[in-house]
Parts: sequence; C-alpha cells; structure tokens
Amino acid sequence: METIKLALTKGRLAEEAIALLEKIKLDCSPLRERSRKLVFDLPGSNVQVVLLKAQDVPTYVEHGVVDMGITGKDVLLEQSRPLYEVADLHFGRCRLAVAGRPGAICHNRHMRVATKYPHVAKEYFTSRGQSVEIIKQEGSVELAPIMGLSDIIVDIVETGDTLRANGLVILEEIVQVSARLVLNKVSYKTKQQSLTNILEAITVATS
Ligand code: PRP
Repeated sequence: METIKLALTKGRLAEEAIALLEKIKLDCSPLRERSRKLVFDLPGSNVQVVLLKAQDVPTYVEHGVVDMGITGKDVLLEQSRPLYEVADLHFGRCRLAVAGRPGAICHNRHMRVATKYPHVAKEYFTSRGQSVEIIKQEGSVELAPIMGLSDIIVDIVETGDTLRANGLVILEEIVQVSARLVLNKVSYKTKQQSLTNILEAITVATS
C-alpha cells in the first residue's frame, strides 16, 4: 500500500490535529508519547506523520515531500503557495488583526507596523491607501509598540489575553482564520484514491 505523508504543526494546532486523526480512527499513540521524534509511522495504517513548525508546513507540501498538511490559514495567506486548500477544519480559530494602544492608528500619517505577517500586512494597508513601513518580527510582537519599535502591530489574536496583558487593543480586524487541510497538487493526482478516502473521513469528522 502507498504511504501517505502528512505534516502536522508543533504548537497551538497540534493537540486538535491529533484529536482529529484519532476521530478518523488513526492510532496516534506514538504521537502522544512525549519525545523529541519528528517522524511517526501510525500503527495499522499507511499514514506517516511529520511534525513541523506551522510556517514550514506549506514548504513541505509544495515540494511534495509530504502529500498533505495541516496549518493555519494565516500561514497560507502569508505565503500564498500553489497548494490545494481542501478543507476548513474549524479549529484553531483566531483573527488576524491590527492592534496597538487605543487610538494608535492615524490614517494621515506614515505608520510603522511590526508583524510576523509582512505580506498580509503590506497588502492590507496598501489596499486601504495607508502608507506603512513593515518591521518583520519572529515573535513577542506585542512588545514592539510598547518599546517604541512600531506604532501598531498586525498579529493573530486568539483569546486576546496577550493584548490585554500588554495594554493593547484590536484596532481593526483583517480576517478570521482557522486550521486548513492542504494537499500537494501532484500527490492529488498520483495518490488520488488514498487522499480522497482521508479527505472524506476528515470532512465527515469536522462537519
Ligand atoms: C501568538 C500571537 C500572539 C498570541 C495571541 O503568539 O503572536 O502573541 O499568540 O494569542 P492570545 O490572543 O490567545 O493571547 P505565539 O503564542 O504563537 O508566540 P510568539 O509570540 O512566540 O510567536
């Protein structure tokens, strides 16, 4: 039987992604053992799971080294890679938003924007005719307006706790995001039956 390779994210989407695989009757016990392993053959199936950072999932799927992947819509919007986005998994729901100190946005002034999402941010402000300088960050984005590195940020907001704890508020919502299932375009043709079976099971499990 052909092997189906699936990329999952480490971090905030991991637990719900594993629960989804269990719901479609895949034995994820190796994934639940705490270890530093990154590749897992799921017992009794033809599915192999690899664990990646969310931002690297589209790269692995695009290059066809895995057939399918689960990552956030925020990551897909930022990278716009040629993948098939085949299902909204309805977990990992959050918002991409502009945030800052209350009243921080000034539409007549050039603004500095700190973000892990430079393309999303650039596109958003360009479409609104707002002149911005994008400052790319890798994490702890909320620190940037507090320390004076930027005027505002573009980031994902889930519970809003991080913003509140740092005296920041949502100023504008850009888009709602959630976890998505993506497929490699070649795999979709060469492994169509196996992928369709998994996709159908996931569609039932998430509807
Ligand atoms: C994300 C995001 C916010 C926080 C939002 O960061 O960049 O900082 O989560 O979540 P909340 O609304 O529930 O507080 P993440 O935890 O991925 O860490 P990072 O800052 O290191 O990227």
